[in-house]
Parts: sequence; C-alpha cells; structure tokens
Amino acid sequence: MQPEKLIIFDTTLRDGEQCPGASLNIKEKLEIARQLALLKVDVIEAGFPVASPGDFESVKQIAEEIRGSKIAGLSRALEKDIEATARALEKAESPRIHIFLSTSKLHREHMVEKAKEEIVEMGVKAIQFARKYCDDVEFSPMDATRTEKDFLAEVTREVISAGATTVNIPDTVGYTVPEEFAELIRYLKENVPNINQAVISVHCHNDLGLAVSNSLSAVQAGARQVECTINGIGERAGNAAMEEVVMAVKTRKDFFSGVYTGIETKHIQACSKLVSSLTGFFVQRNKAIVGKNAFAHESGIHQHGFLKRKDTFEIMDPKDIGGEESELVMGKHSGRSALLHKVKELGYNLEQDELDKLFKEFKVLADEKKEIFEDDLHTLIQKQKFSDEQLNTYKLGSLQCGFETGKVPQATVVLVSRDGNEHSSSANGDGPVDAIYNAIDKITGLRCKLLEYQVMSKTTGQDAQGEVTVRVQHEKREVLGKGVGVNTIEASGIAYLNAINKFLIKSKSGPVEGNELPGP
Ligand code: KIV
Ligand code: ZN
Repeated sequence: MQPEKLIIFDTTLRDGEQCPGASLNIKEKLEIARQLALLKVDVIEAGFPVASPGDFESVKQIAEEIRGSKIAGLSRALEKDIEATARALEKAESPRIHIFLSTSKLHREHMVEKAKEEIVEMGVKAIQFARKYCDDVEFSPMDATRTEKDFLAEVTREVISAGATTVNIPDTVGYTVPEEFAELIRYLKENVPNINQAVISVHCHNDLGLAVSNSLSAVQAGARQVECTINGIGERAGNAAMEEVVMAVKTRKDFFSGVYTGIETKHIQACSKLVSSLTGFFVQRNKAIVGKNAFAHESGIHQHGFLKRKDTFEIMDPKDIGGEESELVMGKHSGRSALLHKVKELGYNLEQDELDKLFKEFKVLADEKKEIFEDDLHTLIQKQKFSDEQLNTYKLGSLQCGFETGKVPQATVVLVSRDGNEHSSSANGDGPVDAIYNAIDKITGLRCKLLEYQVMSKTTGQDAQGEVTVRVQHEKREVLGKGVGVNTIEASGIAYLNAINKFLIKSKSGPVEGNELPGP
C-alpha cells in the first residue's frame, strides 16, 4: 500500500501563543508564519480572530501574505466568531475555518451549560454556517478524550453530515495514554458510518508528557492530521512538539510505513530558534531534536563508537534538521552581496532599507568580534526586524555603571525621548543590573516588577553576543523585553527599555499584544 500524507497542522501561533507569557506581536507572528511556510507546514493555524483586534489583524496579514500553506483561523461555534474568522481569511490562498465546541460531560455541565442535544445542534449549525464561507471546515469536540464514546461518535457523525471536512479529536487536558487514544480513534473509525468523508485529526496536550506518543499512536490507528507546535509550546505543559512528530515519522519510516510528511526538515532548527527567541521560552538543553545537547556525545564509550561509525550512537543526522554547529559565515571584509545571499539562505525576506541597515550593523559587529556565525546573523536580523524604533518612547543614550566588591552598585542612565530631549538619572541597586533598572524607572516614572531575567550566549567564544531576555510586569500586564550585544550589562539595559517601551505604546494606542478573551 502506498504511504499516505500525514497532514502537519501547526498551531504555534494560536495554541502556542495562548500560553501565559508567550504573546507575540503581529510582526513576530508574520515572521514565524514565513518560517512555517518555508518548513512546508500543511496548515498554519494563525490565530483566533474574534479574540482581539490584534489577533484579527495578524490572521488577516498572514492570510494575505503566506502562500503554499493553508491558513486556519479558530472560532467558537458562534456566528459572530465564524464571521470574524471568515473576514480575516478573505485573502487566503487556501483558508480553513476551525470550530471548537465542548462535548465532555464536565464541560457540558460546568462550562457551556448545555445538554447533549443542544451541543449537537450548535455544532451542526456552526458547520453549516461556516460552509457558506469556506469549503474547508474543521470541527473540534473539545475535551474529546473525556467525552462519552458513543456521544463523541454521534457528534462526529453529525458534524461530518453537516459538512465538516476534518474532525479533530483533542486531548484538551493531556489526560489520555497512547493505547487508549489509539483505541478511541479505531472506535470512531468503526462506529461513525461517514468517517471516511473527513480527515481524522488529533491535538494532544502534554500534561503527562505523552503528547507526542499519543499523537503517534493515533496515527498508527488511522489519524491523518497531527496538530502540533514548534518546540512543543502551548497551554500549560504544551502541545505535541512538531519536530518530534515529524522526525519520528521520518527516522522510523520502517515502523510508520503508512505515512510520510511533506516537511522540509532542514529548516527545523532555525524555526525552533526563532520561536524560542521571540516567545522568550528557552529550549531545554536535552530537548529531543532541537535541544543543544540533542546531538552531543559526552561519554567516552559513546564518543569512541561514534567516531568509528556515526550510527553506533546517532539515529538521525543533525544536518537533516539544519542542526550542524553554527557555521562560520562571514568576516569584516565580507560584502553586501555575500550578506544578501546568506540572508536569503537563512529564509528571511528583507526590504532594501532593512538590508542596508543590516549591512551597517553587521559591519559594526564585525569590528567588535572578528568572526560572524550564522547565529549572529539570525540575532542581528531579528533585532532589526522586531525593534519598532519609530514607536519607541525612549532610546538608550548612555549608561554608566560602577561595581566594586563590598560597595553598593550604582548606575547613571541617560535616556533620549522621541522629541530628542535627554533625561538622566542615577540610582543604587542590589547589583549593577538592578541599579540600571532603578535608574530607568526613575526617569519613566513606571513602577515595574522584574519577573524573569535570563542571559543566553548566542554563539560560542568569549566575544559571543549575549541575548538578554526580561519578563517585566506593570500593573496587570506582562511583557517580554530583549537586548543583544557583546556587552551583556548594556544588553540588560536595552532589554529592560524594550519592555518599558512596549508598556508605553500600549498606554497610548491600545493593546498591541495579548488576548482579551479567555482562550479555548
Ligand atoms: O486543546 C484544545 O482542545 C484546543 C481546541 C481548540 C482544538 O486547543
Ligand atoms: Zn489545545
């Protein structure tokens, strides 16, 4: 039998973005969508349009620009949601409306407060309504794995009759285990007479660490779409990690012989780094496929075997996921065309003015550190693409910071406001970074709380660029700030200021990030 295509449905921009602290702005979502398209993801779930104006706009822009991947938008089983999703998807090359509705007893009684018959009726009506706008409609019975099996079969049958082209079986709370989940998929195949008129999809959460295993078990039982996210980010413990699902199918094609995916795996590593950097969710070192140690061999016995023959201890080639050591790409004397070539190879699309600016920054960095690695370029491009300089209220003028053992650290900061005026302030702190942040707070007048502070070296060597990520709270809002540089103290100041500028944009022009509605 010919293997069938396993549809990869990526929900990094919806379920992934929904988790606390991961909120992305429109520019960032667009950039991730471009990388997902480069990966040749079959379906990109771009967001939940009715949730907020920001969500609507990002789904709309992604639908307008991205070609090659289907673009999906999420909706509750309500006409106003479906209309909003249909509007956001108007310009998509290939749109999909994804409708969800709770079906388990627990959710029926305590969340939606509806009887079984009402749920079926709502689901059917929503599908029929969505089909007026779009031929491709997916239905998700939320909390499917805790729904009575016979009721789940009934809902599935009815929504397919109403026109659902994909039925997704979500393990919303990450409750199921692999054998049980495979059995559920087989049950639906045997007990839903029209099941062959729709694709069976699965959507697994990772509360018990089983999201990928459950998804793969379902594939063996006949599911032909897997919903997943890059790096497995998502609500609570996250969703099934796309890179793990895809590489399992590829590496064990002897076992998963019934399916294949169309994913261009060589872009996995770059996409993982982009998502990690933009969300501020670092990938654990030992994470399968994309962790720093995923292809490192430490023990003497392993190294000995590996050096003689790679497959003694390595089941995948790191090249397959684009995961070789960060390549040394350029130096001080590299020219503009070499830079343009490399930028394209890394999957970025830059306008001429962006490229000019990048070239200038590249030369400054090449003066600071002799060797420029691929990761340095990723960092420079991202820094430039995602810093909305015109929107910033303040930029860093200068920074002075003194530290001596036994003495209280002190910092003096000069910020330049948009009108060109300089604002200076000095403060003490528990450490130099704290002193800098206190001085910034004195100037801006905002009372912020630093929730998280992390420094990551972007490449190797003593002159590596450090990326500082801070999570800052002001009143009830949390934002991420980022700063990059060879001098990590300065980068710390820039990261904090980046977060402050986001708060200041928000207070002037309404929300730029985050959801107003509680997500599914
Ligand atoms: O986890 C879930 O049930 C969901 C649905 C909206 C598919 O995210
Ligand atoms: Zn989910």
